[in-house]
Amino acid sequence: MQTAVAYKSERLHKTIATRTKRVYDHISRIYPASTYFFHRKAHKIALEMSGLRNGMNVLEVATGSGEMFRRLVKHNPDGYTCGVDLSPNMAARTQAHARKQFPKSSLHCQAVDCRSLPYRDGSFDHIFCCYLYELLSTDDIYLTMEEMHRVLKPRGTLTSILIGQQAEFFNKAYLVAASVVPAFWGRQMDLSAPGILQETGFRVIKEHKVRQGFYPSRILTSVKD
Ligand SMILES: C[S@@+](CC[C@H](N)C(=O)[O-])C[C@H]1O[C@@H](n2cnc3c(N)ncnc32)[C@H](O)[C@@H]1O
Repeated sequence: MQTAVAYKSERLHKTIATRTKRVYDHISRIYPASTYFFHRKAHKIALEMSGLRNGMNVLEVATGSGEMFRRLVKHNPDGYTCGVDLSPNMAARTQAHARKQFPKSSLHCQAVDCRSLPYRDGSFDHIFCCYLYELLSTDDIYLTMEEMHRVLKPRGTLTSILIGQQAEFFNKAYLVAASVVPAFWGRQMDLSAPGILQETGFRVIKEHKVRQGFYPSRILTSVKD
């Protein structure tokens, strides 16, 4: 049976996009600390698993403050690296830092809602999407995955990172945190996202679970079928 906290978290989630934007806009300056303590290890492994090669057209959906984006630009100096985030402050910060660190690289980051990507069909070799699905309603995850499928080239790959559900204690703490600040935490999608990937035309080819301290992540690399 669903607990009251779980029910509240799911119910609030459906009306959350505006608050998500506001919350992430407000914390854009301090967000790098969260990435450093919780996401850094998974980012590194996701890049290794992805098969990204220099010279590709690469898109990161939901860049946050740009830590993964800069890794991508660094590994793709002769290619083109694009990023989008709902929060204008996050997108601006990502672009400014990446341009400063890699002035010769071809890159662009903009404020965009992932449910409607402003790119032509078949534009990218590879897409990265880290810790986003938790913040979207189920309908919006379908829309987002369909959009990513559309803008990928045939046989292009999508690497996703999800907050893992492999640690019971963490799951309980997450439910409480999500009930307090749902716009920041969303809800865990580790168990349902792979099915949605498959339904929207992706085939999962690699999977890896990792923990940074107490924080679990699950990385999935999938191919556009
Ligand atoms: C948990 S953070 C993850 C940031 C980064 N990917 C990382 O790995 O650290 C989620 C990000 O998703 C962005 N986001 C939330 N909803 C979005 C949407 N509908 N479209 C684009 N970005 C969105 C938020 O603004 C936030 O920067």
